[in-house]
Amino acid sequence: MSSMQLLDLMVSNQVTTRTQRLLPPEPWASAGLAAHLERHGALVQHPSSDQWREATLGEIERAGLVGRGGAAFPTGQKLRALLAHRGKPIVIANGTEGEPASMKDRVLLARSPHLVLDGAALAANLVGAGEIIMVVHRDVRGSVDAALAERRLIRIDSTKIRVVTAADGFVAGEASAVVNWVGRAAPIPLGKAPRMTERGLKGCPTLVQNVETLAHLSLVGRHGADWFRQVGTADEPGTILVTLAGSLVTPGVFEVAIGTPTSDVLELAGGPSAPIQALLIGGYFGTWISAPASLSVPFSMGGLGVGLGAGLIVALPAAGCGVLETARLVRYLASQSAGQCGPCKFGLPAIAEQLDLLAEGMPVRYDDLTRWVDEIEGRGACSHPDGVARHVRSALDVFGHEVSEHLAGRCSARERQASRAFPTEELL
Ligand SMILES: Cc1cc2nc3c(=O)[nH]c(=O)nc-3n(C[C@H](O)[C@H](O)[C@H](O)COP(=O)(O)O)c2cc1C
Ligand code: SF4
Repeated sequence: MSSMQLLDLMVSNQVTTRTQRLLPPEPWASAGLAAHLERHGALVQHPSSDQWREATLGEIERAGLVGRGGAAFPTGQKLRALLAHRGKPIVIANGTEGEPASMKDRVLLARSPHLVLDGAALAANLVGAGEIIMVVHRDVRGSVDAALAERRLIRIDSTKIRVVTAADGFVAGEASAVVNWVGRAAPIPLGKAPRMTERGLKGCPTLVQNVETLAHLSLVGRHGADWFRQVGTADEPGTILVTLAGSLVTPGVFEVAIGTPTSDVLELAGGPSAPIQALLIGGYFGTWISAPASLSVPFSMGGLGVGLGAGLIVALPAAGCGVLETARLVRYLASQSAGQCGPCKFGLPAIAEQLDLLAEGMPVRYDDLTRWVDEIEGRGACSHPDGVARHVRSALDVFGHEVSEHLAGRCSARERQASRAFPTEELL
C-alpha cells in the first residue's frame, strides 16, 4: 500500500471524538478556507501592539501547551527564547513526520491545513518573524499549497510564507536537520549548540515548531488558556493527536483528551484485533510498556510514566515476539543515523547486531549490549542515540521473559514473522 493510500485510509477511519478540536468533525468535511472560518472564526491579531503580544504569550504559558513533535517542550518558553535574541526571526513549521509509523501530522495537514497556517502566522507575529517556512511531508504538499493559494486570494497573512517539501528519513525531522535541509539541502543535524532559537537558518533566531503544536497554538490564540485547559489533566492539558497502529481493528489517527483511559483510546480504533502483550508508546524513539498493566491507566505521561512522544501507539499481539520486533526497529534506527557521531556510527550498528543475534537465539554479548546502551546516551550531536537507548532499555525490561528464552536459544512466540505494524522493511 502506498503512503498516499494509507493516508486516505487513515482519514476514512477517523471517528469523531467528544474532544475533537483540531480535526473536522466528519472525514468528508471540507479542508477549505470557508469551512475553516465557519468552524473556527477568524484569528484576530494585533502584531504592532506590545500589549497584545504580552497578553497572548501569557495565555500560551498559562495554557500549558507543550510541543507535540516529541520532546514536549513548553511552547511559551520557546517563543520567549526567540525574543531574547538579536536578528529577524524565522518560523519553521515542522511537518516532516519522519517517524515511519506516524501519520498524525499528515492527517492534520490534509484535514486542517488552515489551523496550522494560522498557528504559524500567530507564532510569526508574536516573535516578529519576517518569514514562515512550511516544511511538509510530500504526501500533503498539495493540500498545503492549495490552502496557501486560498489565503493569498484574500491576503489573510501579513508574513511571507513559503512551502518546502520535507526530506525523507528518520532524522530529517530533527529541528536542526530541518534548518539544514531548508538552508543547504542537507537533512542532517547540526548539533546541539548554538540553539536554533539563538542562531538557526541564515544565522537568524529560528523557531522550529511541530505542525500540531501550531494548530493548538492558533486555538489558544482564539479561545485562551481556560478554554484550552477544559480538557486534559491539570499537568498535561489539552488534546493530542494519536496514530493508533498495530493489532487494532481499524488503525487510524484520532484526537483524544490527554488523560483518557488508554483502553478507551484504543477503542477509537475498534480495540485490539487480537490479544495484545505490549504497547510501544511515542514512536520508534518511544518506550515499550506491558499491555495488561497499562490499559486501565490514563493516557498521559503522569499515568503511563513515559513520554507521549509523537503520539504513536503500536499494539503488539501476544502471539508476536517483542525481541524480534525490537531487533528490527533498532536495525532500522541504526540505518537512519547521519553517521556523524561516534555513538551513532559505531554504537548503533553494534547494538543492532547483538539484538539481531538475540532475536535469532544465537550467542550474544549481553553484558556488552547493555553497557553500550548506557554508553551511547547523551553523547550524540542530536538525541538520536538517546531515543534508541530508551527504546532498547524498555524492550529488555518489558520483554524480560522473552529475552531469557532467547538467551537460552528458544522463542515462545507463535508468530515469528515480522509484524506489519512497524513499516520498516519498505524503508530499508
Ligand atoms: C531524530 C529526531 C527526529 C525528529 N523528527 C521530528 C519530526 O519528524 N517532526 C517533528 O515535528 N519533530 C521531530 N523531532 C523533534 C524536533 O527536533 C523538534 O523538537 C520539534 O520539531 C519541535 O517542535 P515542538 O516543540 O512543537 O514539538 C525529531 C527529533 C529527533 C531527535
Ligand atoms: S547523533 Fe547520530 S543522528 Fe544525531 S547528528 Fe550524530 S550521527 Fe547524526
